[in-house]
Amino acid sequence: MGGELLGFEHRFVPAEGEDPNTLLLLHGTGGDENALLPLGRMLDERAAFLSPRGRVLENGAPRFFRRHAEGVFDHEDLVNRTHELAEFVEAATADYGLDPGRIFAVGFSNGANIAASLLLLHPGLLAGAVLLRAMVPFEPETPPDLSETPVYLAAGRSDQLVPPGNTERLAELLREAGAEVTLEWQSGGHNIGRAEVEAAHDWLANVVAGTQ
Ligand code: MLT
Repeated sequence: MGGELLGFEHRFVPAEGEDPNTLLLLHGTGGDENALLPLGRMLDERAAFLSPRGRVLENGAPRFFRRHAEGVFDHEDLVNRTHELAEFVEAATADYGLDPGRIFAVGFSNGANIAASLLLLHPGLLAGAVLLRAMVPFEPETPPDLSETPVYLAAGRSDQLVPPGNTERLAELLREAGAEVTLEWQSGGHNIGRAEVEAAHDWLANVVAGTQ
């Protein structure tokens, strides 16, 4: 299933059986609504998948918000696009009859960055998040209340795009907001490896079991 909703091309895959969870799949630069479906299945094969395509094009490559340069974000665009994405999630939740309390974001790179922005600007929208190769989207003036929101961060020690200190700052600001953050480091770079997908799967299974 899928199509267009509030300007977002997207795929929707219903859950298996009565599974109440939805993974909101947010691709990296150059991805689309199909890019993270295989990853979603590896993380939770029974959940529903809601997978929008980013509405910004950078030299033809879809993204979720504009940037001035690599790692230098257009703050105004990021904030506006984050609100648009939140409206899309709310509309899709109603249209597809999803449980609004059980939506977990899974984002890679640019998708992880807008997922972090969703956490900061729309606390309560997400039940949790798996952020792969995320950066600080912006420094909030007042920390949101993310009490007990579980967040998994997977970072690469030799990532050329994301300096380790930046991921550490993201973990710190999410913790300051009350989130339960798990930060795991890999020796590799920006690409995601099998072992960390398995680690993220186990983390998610634990979180889901604890919230049912
Ligand atoms: C971003 O622009 O969100 C980050 O630099 C990661 C990416 O290249 O997508």
